[in-house]
Amino acid sequence: MPLSDFERYPLTFGPSPVHPLRRLSEHLGGEVEIWAKREDVSSGLAFGGNKVRKLEYLVPDAIAQGADTLVSIGGVQSNHTRQVAATAAHLGMACVLVQEHWVDWPDVVYDRVGNILCSRIMGADVRLSDAGFDIGYRDSWKQAIADVEARGGRPYAIPAGASDHPLGGLGFAGWAMEVAEQESALGTFFDTIVVCTVTGSTHAGMIAGFAAQDRPRTVLGIDGSATLEQTREQLARIARQTADAIGVGRPISDEEIILVDGYHAGIYGVPDASTIEAIRLVGRLEGMLTDPVYEGKSMAGMIDLIRNGTIAPGSKVLYAHLGGQPALSGYAGAF
Ligand SMILES: Cc1ncc(COP(=O)(O)O)c(C=O)c1O
Repeated sequence: MPLSDFERYPLTFGPSPVHPLRRLSEHLGGEVEIWAKREDVSSGLAFGGNKVRKLEYLVPDAIAQGADTLVSIGGVQSNHTRQVAATAAHLGMACVLVQEHWVDWPDVVYDRVGNILCSRIMGADVRLSDAGFDIGYRDSWKQAIADVEARGGRPYAIPAGASDHPLGGLGFAGWAMEVAEQESALGTFFDTIVVCTVTGSTHAGMIAGFAAQDRPRTVLGIDGSATLEQTREQLARIARQTADAIGVGRPISDEEIILVDGYHAGIYGVPDASTIEAIRLVGRLEGMLTDPVYEGKSMAGMIDLIRNGTIAPGSKVLYAHLGGQPALSGYAGAF
């Protein structure tokens, strides 16, 4: 059925803003026009980010099931769990979060500032777990769900990144439609989209949403997981499932699913010199902040792909800014 027939619970202010990054474009030679679309400033829920748009489609399901507690999982500095905590508070629900040891990062305040601090302030039951990085299903998460049931609560389970869920791709299918509307209003067309990919449903939703449109474009997913095969499999699965759900009416080809290797710094959650350089560059040129786990890596990727000509002169690029800045304070040591 068309996306507009799915129930959506508004958690955003409306379409996320789109604006040019003129000084960055100029700095990179002036032949590629770069714009940003800002999920980081599109909601009043605790600094926003890409999960808010996904959760707009999960919340009606949670309410319909009579849930009273949102349960989710992520790393210690997960932006996703912070957005689930904010959504639960906004809805008047309880929230249980499993925060795993996805990243070995030496800053002593890493598990006390940024996202995890926000989640604690918003009243979530935050549980630290020793398990390492994995975008799949975990025992600790199943345990958290069982605990809510044991105390008579009604949990609604949201997987990592709200991705591996039947409704997980819908939010960013909607993003693709929003882009087309904003393009008509601006009288422009973005031939290339740059997005950071980890649990997959952001990028997957975009692929499905753009597949429903007439004009082809390239969606470059810059991998931030450093577990490419697992991410590629999940990305392709969610893209196809979302395309079916919204009635795209044709198969998604393998060529439409582009996951770019080379900018994840070798490991999830740890920046390398190019990540830090990209964060500083865009901060200084544009006053726009990006984080060391996700957007700093996709920014480093976009900059390099423009410099090396993979994104060709004459292209119009839309950089999807998916949020993530609250984690910066946990990475003070990197700066
Ligand atoms: C700031 C930020 N950027 C990018 C991503 C990647 O999105 P996804 O997990 O949907 O691939 C995430 C979440 O994982 C995120 O929090």
